[in-house]
Amino acid sequence: MKTHIYLMIILMVLSQSLSAQIDMKKAIVRDRFIPGEIWLDNNGIHINAHGGGLLFYKDTYYWFGEHKTTGRAGNRANVGVHCYSSVDLYNWKDEGIALAVSENINSDITKGCVIERPKVIYNRKTGKYVMWFHLELKGQGYNTARTGVAVSDKITGPYFFLRSLRPNANTWPENFTEEQKNGPNSEEKMTPWTEPWLKAVREGLFVRRDFNRGQMSRDMTLYVDEDDKAYHIHASEENLTLHISQLSDDYLSFNGRYTRIFPGGHNEAPAIFKRKGKYYLITSGCSGWNPNPARSAVADSIWGPWKSLQNPCVGVNPQNNLGLEKTFGGQSTFVLPVPGKSDGFIAMFDMWRPNNAIDGRYIWLPLEFTDDEFKVPWHDEWDLSIFKKFPRRCQGIIQSNLRGFRFRWSLQLGDFATAMMPTFDDSDYCTCPFAGTDD
Ligand code: DGJ
Repeated sequence: MKTHIYLMIILMVLSQSLSAQIDMKKAIVRDRFIPGEIWLDNNGIHINAHGGGLLFYKDTYYWFGEHKTTGRAGNRANVGVHCYSSVDLYNWKDEGIALAVSENINSDITKGCVIERPKVIYNRKTGKYVMWFHLELKGQGYNTARTGVAVSDKITGPYFFLRSLRPNANTWPENFTEEQKNGPNSEEKMTPWTEPWLKAVREGLFVRRDFNRGQMSRDMTLYVDEDDKAYHIHASEENLTLHISQLSDDYLSFNGRYTRIFPGGHNEAPAIFKRKGKYYLITSGCSGWNPNPARSAVADSIWGPWKSLQNPCVGVNPQNNLGLEKTFGGQSTFVLPVPGKSDGFIAMFDMWRPNNAIDGRYIWLPLEFTDDEFKVPWHDEWDLSIFKKFPRRCQGIIQSNLRGFRFRWSLQLGDFATAMMPTFDDSDYCTCPFAGTDD
């Protein structure tokens, strides 16, 4: 009997120390980014938000991305869109599935369809959170090339699926000429990838082919400009040309204005940001799940003209010895302007693992600017102190006591990219008793 009691006590002590160890593992607090490494959430599980994007709202970041499952089949949408939240960008709390796939076989987002590159934006006028994503209907490979939209009153969801569509049916792009509208609309008698075929593609062959049924929409991202106008940027025309389309005021549909950029350029994985009044794009070439060289571009207006810049990557990822020729083994998905940081932009890339989709990794790297161009240098690890603090303007004293004053600060807009950031309000305690701007 005594032996039994001793044994039970030993087991209890052991199990307590084991669970304490597990909790310790869960509680590891990150204070830096380690690109390409397993990135654990608050439950000690590798973050599952691939092809994702971020939304900053009321001092918290929300990361939305594809929830992948194991194996090759894990590239399909078996679960939905996952959401995580963070106050520091290093440590992420699992907020669960924001948009769930449907068990209804007649739904466009039935389990087993393809949901990729989900992005969420906030509509200040309606107070709704709007999610758009690339959708391929179940069992049809990548042929349907649709975009889907879902909406929620709560940032973490649940999001309610509204519809999927091919954008801009029966509408010509703004930069299409009368001559282009009247060109051939079928590939008949043309050999793909020959110069005459490419010329026809550049001149709008697929736009005319898809005029009635709507334009193809695959890899996509969203952008909300400082005037609250929102844009849907997607790979169209068999992935050969990017389209930038304006959304309606409620962000739930397309308003009919769109433009083609880099016709025949074969770009996908668009990530867009704005700095000092200029718009920048990072894209990739098209090689399925395999990495290829990144591209970048700049424009004074989102409507173009867009000018190609260089491959922005610099350095080598020692985990796989890949550098600029393969984007460190990644593919672009989003660029986050970091609130409160001067020239603080983080480029997000996915390292796909197509044979075990759930094992895909994330590469987050800081951008570096020289005049109007930017670079994405590799870092084995880094933290936000790499960015300078953003100059803030004092809006007045909101509290004072013996220790000093509490000021209300606001960012100096104008220099600041507001993309995906409906509000930014920062108040902190300052012992220096004068008003004005700091560093
Ligand atoms: C590359 C795209 O960027 C990914 O989102 C995904 O669609 C793969 N192609 C599929 O091969």
